Amino acid sequence: MDVDHVVIFDTTLRDGEQSPGATLNTDEKLEIARQLERLRVDVIEAGFPASSPGDLDAVRRVAREVTGSSICGLARCVRSDIDAAWEAVRDAAKPRIHVFIATSDIHLEHKLRMTRQQVLERTRSMVAYARSLCSDIEFSPEDGTRSDPEFLYEVLGIAIAEGATTLNIPDTVGYTNPVEFAQLIRGIRQHTPGIEKAIISVHCHNDLGMATANSLAAVMEGARQIECTINGLGERAGNAALEEIVMALHTRRSFYGIETAIVTQELYPSSRMVSSFTGLSVQANKAIVGANAFAHEAGIHQDGILKNRLTYEIMDAHMVGLGENTLVLGKHSGRHAFADKLDQMGYHLDGEELNRAFARFKELADKKKTLDDRDLEAIVSDEIFQPDDVYRLVQIQVSAGDRAIPTATVTLESPDGALITDAAHGTGPVDAVYKAINRIVQVPNELIEFSVNAVTEGIDAVGEVTIRIQAELNGTNGLPVNAQTGRHTYLFSGHGASTDIIVASGRAYMSALNKLIAVRQASALVAE
Ligand code: KIV
Ligand code: ZN
Repeated sequence: MDVDHVVIFDTTLRDGEQSPGATLNTDEKLEIARQLERLRVDVIEAGFPASSPGDLDAVRRVAREVTGSSICGLARCVRSDIDAAWEAVRDAAKPRIHVFIATSDIHLEHKLRMTRQQVLERTRSMVAYARSLCSDIEFSPEDGTRSDPEFLYEVLGIAIAEGATTLNIPDTVGYTNPVEFAQLIRGIRQHTPGIEKAIISVHCHNDLGMATANSLAAVMEGARQIECTINGLGERAGNAALEEIVMALHTRRSFYGIETAIVTQELYPSSRMVSSFTGLSVQANKAIVGANAFAHEAGIHQDGILKNRLTYEIMDAHMVGLGENTLVLGKHSGRHAFADKLDQMGYHLDGEELNRAFARFKELADKKKTLDDRDLEAIVSDEIFQPDDVYRLVQIQVSAGDRAIPTATVTLESPDGALITDAAHGTGPVDAVYKAINRIVQVPNELIEFSVNAVTEGIDAVGEVTIRIQAELNGTNGLPVNAQTGRHTYLFSGHGASTDIIVASGRAYMSALNKLIAVRQASALVAE
């Protein structure tokens, strides 16, 4: 059987980061990019450099430090966007610029206010300009699936003539279905001038739950790049999930005749990292990486599995990196062994960061007999990958019980180094802690999500708390405005880990709150 290669293009750091509340800081982006490199994705779309100086800087850092994958920056068909994208990726070992312009009549009329002729001209000049800077150019006709196919062939032909080497067909609003999308890709292959010189790519959104199916239907018609994200993160209902695409191609290899370069054992660690950094938890029944994806509950199923796993399992959990919580370090393990283990897990810490993580490790090792990878990951993401402290949590003390009024005393270190202590009571100990913190920080926000999970089994497990808070801020950055208040609603996620879930909750709140305060400061936005 002939086996073809399909390029896996990961856009977790760009489209994925556009999920409400999924904002990542530069260190987190870099860590995710390193994980994507270990996963061996072919292309990492690291951001949209023209969108903000922070994004440009993050893409540049990824481009300089991650050499195993192509690094791509997104740009509208606008000269200044292309300049920013090139500035960000030019130092990469394999740089790519991805330019896009909308092609559907609905976008032309209401968003761009351009004629088809103008779009053709803009495509011609901007693809040519991008190609004058970079040899690897991807072009996307945004809202491709709602565009007139004849117009699409024309635009794509021009992009190829001007040097685009990958043509990406986005289902921007998640509107298509597998049969229709396959027809569109077939039409593009038959009618686009010069298409044999380019790779056809697809970029599917999941609004109707068909992103993975649509992407695979396109592969059957000759698409050889798939754009996707870890955990299916992305705008609205998200993008096609990388782990689903990869495992479908892998598990049904004899059907598709396609392989990817992905190291499947890195799928689960990648999912965990993205979920922990974005604060967006993975639903339990999510294919491949959900907590129940390999769990068997029904008696009949359990019986079958015991007799032969193939009765009810089409994939081996080890293939996706589950059940590999190897290491065991304990309280006698030294700094060197600890650093080595983190290195193997892909966390390269030194200096002050390593000291802080090691101190947390020792503290935890005193409470738990043995620690495995999951504990270490929780410590590192809690201790290291947090927003820069504006306020630092110094101490929490609570008193609670079925006959007590839950009360918390909290000490924070303020930005100028002063220690501030305050106390509050609440409906429960976590509520009391949050109220005490609010009395000190005084930044209005609303807690909209709170979840706590045990990282490992056992009564001494580390508890990981993930929260999301919402705040309304003034500003004009294009986000939807609340009609009554005239303000934008921002979401911030936070995570914290500890064997004490009240402490983990306090850490999670400080992490979200520090992100909110940083945005207020950076944009000089005023909340009240
Ligand atoms: O969904 C979309 O159309 C996009 C493009 C920028 C490729 O994300
Ligand atoms: Zn998209």
